[in-house]
Amino acid sequence: MVKGVIFDLDGVIVSTDDCHYLAWKRMADEEGIPFDRAVNERLRGVSRMDSLNIILEKANAAYTDAQKEALATRKNAYYVELIGRLTPSDILPGTLEVLRELRKRNVKIAIGSSSRNTPVILRQIGLESAFDAVADGNQISRSKPDPEVFVLAARLLAIAPVDCLVVEDADAGVEAALAGGMKALGVGSAAQNPRATYRAQSLADVDLNTLLR
Ligand code: BG6
Ligand code: MG
Repeated sequence: MVKGVIFDLDGVIVSTDDCHYLAWKRMADEEGIPFDRAVNERLRGVSRMDSLNIILEKANAAYTDAQKEALATRKNAYYVELIGRLTPSDILPGTLEVLRELRKRNVKIAIGSSSRNTPVILRQIGLESAFDAVADGNQISRSKPDPEVFVLAARLLAIAPVDCLVVEDADAGVEAALAGGMKALGVGSAAQNPRATYRAQSLADVDLNTLLR
């Protein structure tokens, strides 16, 4: 029986893909580093610094750690400007209905996100007090596919990993959930992931009776 559901944030509850893309693109253009949507796809679920390292694979120059910090900080400033425009209308279809239904069934709900901007995003979309626990990029040192963020979320919920279901749009996130001993529902970009325990296009297409078994 599933007693807790842990939701990834970006790409599951709200689509911030474009904000990430536009912010990285602005920084990459300024630096003359080739960056496109295909590279952006590889950044799904990956931490900010790991994302930068992927982008820098195409850079001609070598960057010191201090320069990398500065690039990541600059990208984040552009990103924060963009997510400042998010509103509750950006919550992805099906999300609020699923959260409401889980509450009704006494299933605990948490966020498990790599993003250090999680508190800002939750505030922007009006869900800052909707979850029983929030585990995010500010509290962890290892990024997905390491299970650290989901293990922390389960611990905060006081529920054994085996009784948790993770909802993820990133392949790295599906792996993280499985590595943590949890079930995984792949949605969006992970909707075809054969490794996921369950698959759905979005939270608007799920059957909770099946998922919570
Ligand atoms: C994840 C996104 O949720 O958060 C990644 O899928 C992003 O694309 C990561 O790099 C870290 O985000 P932030 O907000 O801490 O830069
Ligand atoms: Mg995601």
